[in-house]
Amino acid sequence: MITTDELPLAFDEAAPSYDAMVARNPGYHAHLAAAADALLTALPADRTARLVDLGCGSGASTRALLAAATRAVRAVEVTGVDASRGMLDEAADKVWPTGVRFEHGLAQELGARASEWALSGGVEGVLAAYLFRNVSERDEVLTDVHRLLEPGGVLVVQEYSVAHSRLADVVWSLVCWLVVIPLSWLTSRQTRLYRYLWRSVRGFDSVQTFVDRLYRAGYVDVEVRTAAGWQRGILHTFRARKPVA
Ligand SMILES: C[S@@+](CC[C@H](N)C(=O)[O-])C[C@H]1O[C@@H](n2cnc3c(N)ncnc32)[C@H](O)[C@@H]1O
Repeated sequence: MITTDELPLAFDEAAPSYDAMVARNPGYHAHLAAAADALLTALPADRTARLVDLGCGSGASTRALLAAATRAVRAVEVTGVDASRGMLDEAADKVWPTGVRFEHGLAQELGARASEWALSGGVEGVLAAYLFRNVSERDEVLTDVHRLLEPGGVLVVQEYSVAHSRLADVVWSLVCWLVVIPLSWLTSRQTRLYRYLWRSVRGFDSVQTFVDRLYRAGYVDVEVRTAAGWQRGILHTFRARKPVA
């Protein structure tokens, strides 16, 4: 059983095999690309967009943001923030263009450390892919992101949620215990993080609960899209905007 406090260490442990694990997940990178496109296509204005990749991990979502920016013909600067040094080390080992940097810290520290992370000038967009179910203080983090966003700025959250559907819960449990957890054993001889993955998704908000949180934190134009394939009704992309006025 992993507690929230132990989570960064659990990700440190899993970091060396993380990219190999997600490479075996059909659709992982395509779903990140779709989430990044949802952000880039909704950004206001056409100056260089300052973005935050909250819970950037080993950089897969950061890479997705850069590719989406190329597709949208937009210049971007991206700050990746993550609680796991091991995951950030994996990200740092990759080659990144100018304008991409990584910071070590908790999403819960975003408000307090924005100026240390050179974010106090505000940002146009935030992506949080597979982060929020790991955060207990969801309302507070959503409020801090809202504060950080420029008026008209956009938040995209990609997350698994099964609380609204018995079928989604059963499919999720079958996939975890028949595929994901055995695969993590074969890849790394460790299953702790992926057993946590199974449990944390089952304990996460229903789609409606998360939508309600977004509205309560002051976002508008909230949209939710579910993935295709076996992840239909399980993986969801939430897009929300900070009001202009
Ligand atoms: C499942 S990985 C996803 C990484 C990346 N966004 C991607 O899509 O590949 C979740 C990441 O969130 C980070 N994380 C978990 N809780 C966090 C928190 N409270 N604050 C910041 N990062 C956190 C973990 O260290 C991990 O790297």
